[in-house]
Amino acid sequence: MVLLIMEHSDLENNIESSLEEIDRSSTLGELDDIRTKILGRSGIVNSAFKVMASIPGDQKKAFGARINILKEKVEMAIREKRKELENIEIATRLANEDIDATLPACDSEIGSLHIISKMVRNIRKRYHARGFLVLDGPEVESEFHNFDALNIPAHHPARQSHDTFYIKNFAGTLLRTHTSTVQIRSLMERGVPIRMISIGKTYRSDNLDATHSPMFHQVEGLVVEREPLSVGNLKKELQRLIAACLEIDDIDEVNVRFRPSYFPFTEPSMEVDCMHEKIGHKWIELGGAGMVHPNVYKNCCLDSDGLYGFAFGFGLERVTMLRNQIHDIRSLYDTDVRWLKHY
Ligand code: PHE
Repeated sequence: MVLLIMEHSDLENNIESSLEEIDRSSTLGELDDIRTKILGRSGIVNSAFKVMASIPGDQKKAFGARINILKEKVEMAIREKRKELENIEIATRLANEDIDATLPACDSEIGSLHIISKMVRNIRKRYHARGFLVLDGPEVESEFHNFDALNIPAHHPARQSHDTFYIKNFAGTLLRTHTSTVQIRSLMERGVPIRMISIGKTYRSDNLDATHSPMFHQVEGLVVEREPLSVGNLKKELQRLIAACLEIDDIDEVNVRFRPSYFPFTEPSMEVDCMHEKIGHKWIELGGAGMVHPNVYKNCCLDSDGLYGFAFGFGLERVTMLRNQIHDIRSLYDTDVRWLKHY
């Protein structure tokens, strides 16, 4: 019995000193440690409950009630201390958080445009400002818009040179191999006169290597008037387009030269080369151009009499790479943000 009384007072002493510890604690971490020491699985309160078994039956109830009262006392003390410490912590955090409300709302971490997108936007902006229609069309196209209407009937050798991705189980459907499809759609929907450009993704089943990608971007343009237009007008327009790609203000800084070529949808047709110091100051093979073939008008249900038109088109990756001194086309598309940020 003497032993039991000792245990009772031991328990009360322990709790008393724990309450003092709670009061002294200065951080939430410290308070949690004390809580475990008292209320945890092998803490003071649980150990006291374990003694119950050795207590005579008639005293069990009173003993249990005492432990519970002490337990509640501790819980209340911890709750109050926690509130107090939390308030102190919030107040210190607020005092230390020095918010400068005059800083700009965003910083450079919100991302930026890909270099191809930047070029696309520059071209669109300049052409829009000059009154051109800036149009787009579907990437999954019909053979009619991609080939037939452009005077490239089935079995024409030009079809082979396009390495086309055909869509399985949908006869006559393909991924467009050039953006000339948009010129056909525009002529059919809007008629003439027309001044338009189109920029977008095109697809050819090339193997991916340092200079080829099965997906690439093209810009194409079409101007059709009822007034005479010449190859000279076309050349000037190409100077403007290259100036737009390279963000050059004086278009006469851009050198353009033609080499005779063949496209079924233009006659005469030419290859376009250009030169400017921003892309290395040597002749660069750029793309194709020519005066619109009368059959193209006919295929778009237009009377070709009295119509004058020219068209041009080239890929954007080459120019972007030369301008930024990039030697591998794959790096444009392998989504390494650290690399992209560099540009
Ligand atoms: N569509 C042609 C190509 O992808 C380029 C081109 C456009 C040529 C317009 C002439 C006129 O190769």
